[in-house]
Amino acid sequence: MTDQIVFDNQVAVVTGAGGGLGKTYALELARRGARVVVNDLGGSVDGSGGASSMADQTVADIEAAGGEAVANYDSVATQEGGAAIIQTALDSFGTVDIVVNNAGILRDKSFANVEMSDVHAVLDVHLRGAFHVTQPAFQVMKEKAYGRIVYTASASGIFGNFGQANYGAAKMGLVGLMNVTAVEGAKYGINANAIAPVARTRMTEDLLGPLAEAVDPNQVTPLVVYLASQNCDFSHEIWTVGGGRYARIFVGTNRGWFAGKGAVPSVEEVRDHLDEIRDVESYIVPSNSMEELMMLGQMLAE
Ligand code: NAI
Repeated sequence: MTDQIVFDNQVAVVTGAGGGLGKTYALELARRGARVVVNDLGGSVDGSGGASSMADQTVADIEAAGGEAVANYDSVATQEGGAAIIQTALDSFGTVDIVVNNAGILRDKSFANVEMSDVHAVLDVHLRGAFHVTQPAFQVMKEKAYGRIVYTASASGIFGNFGQANYGAAKMGLVGLMNVTAVEGAKYGINANAIAPVARTRMTEDLLGPLAEAVDPNQVTPLVVYLASQNCDFSHEIWTVGGGRYARIFVGTNRGWFAGKGAVPSVEEVRDHLDEIRDVESYIVPSNSMEELMMLGQMLAE
């Protein structure tokens, strides 16, 4: 039997934990001993409305299973809301070890038709929301030299999807935030990783078609709980997860075409080297922007 992964004496904050994926994370973290702040605004999929009932239900379910949790109803979409969510962890449990940025809304429209109000609303919850919640937690984690941060990205942003310019931009923005918090958190024992999930929830029940049956939210849970654990000793990675598939997504760069030190090629020369420039057969996966620059440095030195 392998060692069990447990969360004794650890405090987790899960945003948007009143339903869907977030609820499964909160339940499993609590089942394994974490004390959990269950944040949820309790609104609808498009972000309108709000109620305490969703977060309360998750807390009731955790308590019924013998776990410990506290509800928080603040919106991640404001800085005050994010601060209040982390303050709830500090007031109730004294610290924060884990943040799972999961809260989300949808306002899908084609790029030609999307209203700026829908762009702002989606960026506020997904991208700014992760800033609002993670920054105050990061301060605490930095002081205690330990932390686990999970961001929820999406294939819609990483690979692109029709009708989701606002959502895709927010989700890919989270990859950038993950990259930098991973780099900055490294010396403080703070690991940051991102997931791109696929699961049947109220958000996706009309979008997934026949695939819906095959993608249970509980299939995402073990990965997120692992990324949130002390056992997870890597950082700065993007994982895709859904329907029983667990895999890595990465951002790489190829060697490309080197025109020569000091060279300013013509437009035609660039055109004539497109095969080398666009080649994806061999590549590296840099762990920070300096590593990519080092590749240029090597070419310049050749
Ligand atoms: P869901 O709608 O069941 O869960 C989202 C939760 O976030 C809801 O409970 C909602 O009340 C809460 N929420 C919304 N705005 C909030 C705010 N301002 N403050 C606090 N809570 C707020 O949907 P689901 O599928 O569980 O989504 C969870 C995350 O996974 C989201 O970030 C979503 O974008 C992402 N995701 C889900 C995919 C899927 O296939 N279900 C695919 C890719 C990403």
